Amino acid sequence: MYNLKDLKSYTKSYKKSVENPEAFWDAIAKANFVWKRPWSRVLEWDFSLPKISWFEGAQLNITENCIDRHLEQNGNKTAILFEPNNPNESSEAITYTDLHKRVNQFANVLKSKGIQKGDRVCVYLPMIPELAIAVLACARIGAIHSVVFAGFSANALASRINDCDCKLLITSDGGYRGAKTIDLKSIVDTALLDCAGIEAVLVAKRIHTDISMVSGRDFWLQPLLESASAICEATVMDAEDPLFILYTSGSTGQPKGMVHTTAGYMVYSAYTFKNIFQYEPEDIYWCTADIGWITGHSYIVYGPLLNGATTLMFEGVPSYPDYGRFWSIVEKHKVSQFYTAPTAIRALAKQGLDLVSPYDLSSLKVLGTVGEPINEEAWHWYNDHIGKRKCPIVDTWWQTETGGIMISPIPKSFDGKPTFATLPFVGIQPALMDEKGEEIEGNSVEGRLCIKFPWPSMARTIWGNHQRYKETYFSAYDQSYFTGDGALRDENGHYRITGRVDDVIIVSGHNLGTAPIEDAINEHPKVAESAIVGYPHDIKGSALYGYITLKNSDDTNAAALKVEINQLISKHIGPIAKLDKIQFTSGLPKTRSGKIMRRILRKIASKDTSNLGDISTLLNPEVVETIMKNSL
Ligand code: WT7
Repeated sequence: MYNLKDLKSYTKSYKKSVENPEAFWDAIAKANFVWKRPWSRVLEWDFSLPKISWFEGAQLNITENCIDRHLEQNGNKTAILFEPNNPNESSEAITYTDLHKRVNQFANVLKSKGIQKGDRVCVYLPMIPELAIAVLACARIGAIHSVVFAGFSANALASRINDCDCKLLITSDGGYRGAKTIDLKSIVDTALLDCAGIEAVLVAKRIHTDISMVSGRDFWLQPLLESASAICEATVMDAEDPLFILYTSGSTGQPKGMVHTTAGYMVYSAYTFKNIFQYEPEDIYWCTADIGWITGHSYIVYGPLLNGATTLMFEGVPSYPDYGRFWSIVEKHKVSQFYTAPTAIRALAKQGLDLVSPYDLSSLKVLGTVGEPINEEAWHWYNDHIGKRKCPIVDTWWQTETGGIMISPIPKSFDGKPTFATLPFVGIQPALMDEKGEEIEGNSVEGRLCIKFPWPSMARTIWGNHQRYKETYFSAYDQSYFTGDGALRDENGHYRITGRVDDVIIVSGHNLGTAPIEDAINEHPKVAESAIVGYPHDIKGSALYGYITLKNSDDTNAAALKVEINQLISKHIGPIAKLDKIQFTSGLPKTRSGKIMRRILRKIASKDTSNLGDISTLLNPEVVETIMKNSL
């Protein structure tokens, strides 16, 4: 599976993947996986319907590829390395043999509760081994997992359970997050008041507190697992049978249940993992995401296990017991690949080097980021202080919908450069479109990012609403998947993601991306983080409003800082991008996955606060009030 080892091999593979995609993916799928029946056709597609089908006719089970086939040679190798929230609790190494047993037992428990192929199972668990095992147990018997991030509220959980008619829910008595314990079961109980379809709830023990169990509905997981058989034959799945549903929020409306199917997702998540992280058999790989997000699905569970890798699963948070925790884990487990989000890097950089320097980070080989554009300053901090300028940084651009990484540097093939996701992965055919819907050819251009050709792990539909899938992704541009992002292609053909196109602000007729302005501001040594939004302006159409958090919130010379910040913007982008209003604030409203909620900031800046929408799912809803109070 490892064939992108230098620029020449990338260039050759890329060329083949575009000129003859079917032959390209056919060879990768044949050489690297176990199939119960081969496919009759590699790809069939029509973006106007839209219909996408990969490896039609093939039969397989993804868990045999993730687990069983590694047993003979690597049964004693650690598959999942669990690092608990509390550093004084010992970590747990789950070998491939252990994992096989635990997944099969769990699958048999699901069966004993009436779960069959095609049934939807909701998983609402903290980052404990049972979460990964539950996901795999569903896949073992062909049940469709729908993991809901355990930070979501009862309402959010209930709407996701109901949207796809889940029959069974897997949860725990609670979870640890830093100094806090989270009482998951009472959230579940509230949610289930509105979920008539749930027939059984399996409850894992983690925090060992007293919780209420509803008789006949709720079952402790442990005793059921102990009495379950450790043999569960893998259900034979068709290539296009759904593997999972994962909800992602849209710019409007209810969350969308993105449906990923079996064979294509398997091939693409495995192949990208191997080549982008340059995984070698002795490596310890760590992605800090939660399995509740696509990053965790593809690059904690499936991608690594498909490669027989050791994947570290961390229960806690970067700030507990102190902001050195990530680096202490890297040292403790000799982590080779480390994959995190820019928001985490910025938070850690803000803490200073005293929390980095005590740790030996020499095991690191590749660093990754995902989730949002990484600003120049954070990129350099990561490169200088974590990678010690010897680890390639892979700034990986992709989406819940894409299933796997789409645009990213590939170590050894080509380097990254700050704020650039660089080049498409093999098989990915990006295009930039103008407002008229025409493709913009050539280099040094900017437009809306589309993908012109199917790739194996693309979401196939929105659960229960194919029409919305078509409208959201395939209607803006003819025969192209629209990502919702803007991007520029530089003089070398490298891509820089400029942010969601709904964040583009047109000031005096000039299109300004928020990301480059924020980059410029973040260069100021006193700035921790910033978010730019547009607000209506009589003369310019829109003007720019900047919300800025400082590293040291006691900084008093606000007037001087504002001047300096606008000078920086002028320098990096031009006077047109200068901010009309600057509000210093102690925090920015963020989603649980760490994205800044610009929608809320936009409303406050526009003095349109009558309906801020649902802010209860924010990480820090309290900052909204403060920002409103001090609004300019
Ligand atoms: C959106 C997708 C894919 C896993 C996590 C997010 C933004 C993601 C990058 C990056 C710039 C990025 C895009 C994209 N995004 N990675 N490396 N550089 N922007 O998944 O929640 O589905 O969000 O995140 O705007 O469309 P998601």
